[in-house]
Amino acid sequence: MPTLPGRRILLGVTGGIAAYKAADLTRRLIEIGAEVQVVMSEGAKRFVGVATFQALSGRPVRDSLWDAQAEGHMGHIELARWPDLILIAPATADVIARLAHGRADDLLTTLVLASDKPVAIAPAMNRLMWAKAVTQDNVAKLVARGVHVLGPGAGFQACGEVGEGRMREPLEIRDDVVRLLAAGPMRGRHAVVTAGPTREPIDPVRFITNRSSGKQGYALASALAQLGARVTLVSGPTNLAVPAGVMRVDVETAQQMCDAALKAAADADVFVGAAAVADYRAAEVAREKIKKKADRLSLDLTRNDDILVRVRGARPDLFMVGFAAETEKLEQHAREKLEKKKLDLIAANWVGGGRAFDRDDNQLNVFWSAGGVRELAHAGKEQLARELAALIVERFQARAVPAKAKSPQKTK
Ligand code: CTP
Repeated sequence: MPTLPGRRILLGVTGGIAAYKAADLTRRLIEIGAEVQVVMSEGAKRFVGVATFQALSGRPVRDSLWDAQAEGHMGHIELARWPDLILIAPATADVIARLAHGRADDLLTTLVLASDKPVAIAPAMNRLMWAKAVTQDNVAKLVARGVHVLGPGAGFQACGEVGEGRMREPLEIRDDVVRLLAAGPMRGRHAVVTAGPTREPIDPVRFITNRSSGKQGYALASALAQLGARVTLVSGPTNLAVPAGVMRVDVETAQQMCDAALKAAADADVFVGAAAVADYRAAEVAREKIKKKADRLSLDLTRNDDILVRVRGARPDLFMVGFAAETEKLEQHAREKLEKKKLDLIAANWVGGGRAFDRDDNQLNVFWSAGGVRELAHAGKEQLARELAALIVERFQARAVPAKAKSPQKTK
């Protein structure tokens, strides 16, 4: 599902080895519906060919202030007005220095100076260049002027050294961009969503699981990200791709999901339990494969903790949403769970007989205290997720305290 349909990104590529990653970044942005106009510095063209970006973005690359033909088509002032975001990736120490000093000595720096659109940079350089006081001063100046600094990351560098300075990965930068452009009502909020089934091992080759595909939880995580939230998706095993703008934590068992959920919930504003968590696990996991011997075999099971109950215990103030999968007495059972688990909202659906699980469509009845109810008509899970996310925001805002003071705009 495109998460940035028609959003315009002016991608500035400057001269570092990470320029090759900017090609993948271009593709990743286009993949989720964005329009990308690439502007290359002279240095960048020594690392990657213009034709690569041209082919990936479907637009002629701009690289000079003095290209009469390109200027005739769209002048640099017009170009500066065009984007929703100017993203410079990779941003070398040199371009950072020139931006910090307000230089306009090539097309890219001129565009930044001539534009009032948000600017984000993904620094990429040798660790010593990054650590130098002058670079840090320049970055601090840009941060103080509202430039979003994405990264850098740490690890192996092309120069053979190890340390801080490498460009964030294209998918991470794409997630940052989705968040930056999502000026929605959940901006500055952290939402945690559990999704998918859990797997409870019986022996080294067998486990107990259920038919959950994770589709509803993933769609909800994506919908909340599109409303501006930072989203952590705690996911059991699924075949689904991580939605743009979402950070996924992979788990297998209910106990692992509970630990990961508690950790993520520590600074969350909203928690949604969409996972189909196994209520029981094997009391003992056999160390060796269980051999077939007798005609009958019983499995001793023990209760798993209820994740929603544990999270509520740790965070009495958190806005919490649960699901209820029922085969009978939908409203009665859902309202019992709402009360028992001290939830703010519960989304109930009929299951069994081929309904809801492992399908692309669903239907939800959402209940909250004092008789609150909203029926979300039968639709695709993505559409339903958008409607449920909007209702979550509505109920959350009805009881919310003001947004926490936001951390500085530096993303690590
Ligand atoms: N849930 C949870 N931890 C569990 C079991 C369920 O957090 N160990 C959450 C689910 O993610 C869902 C909600 O509780 O949001 C309700 O799940 P459901 O399976 O409908 O209900 P249960 O509480 O397991 O009750 P029952 O199986 O008796 O219907």
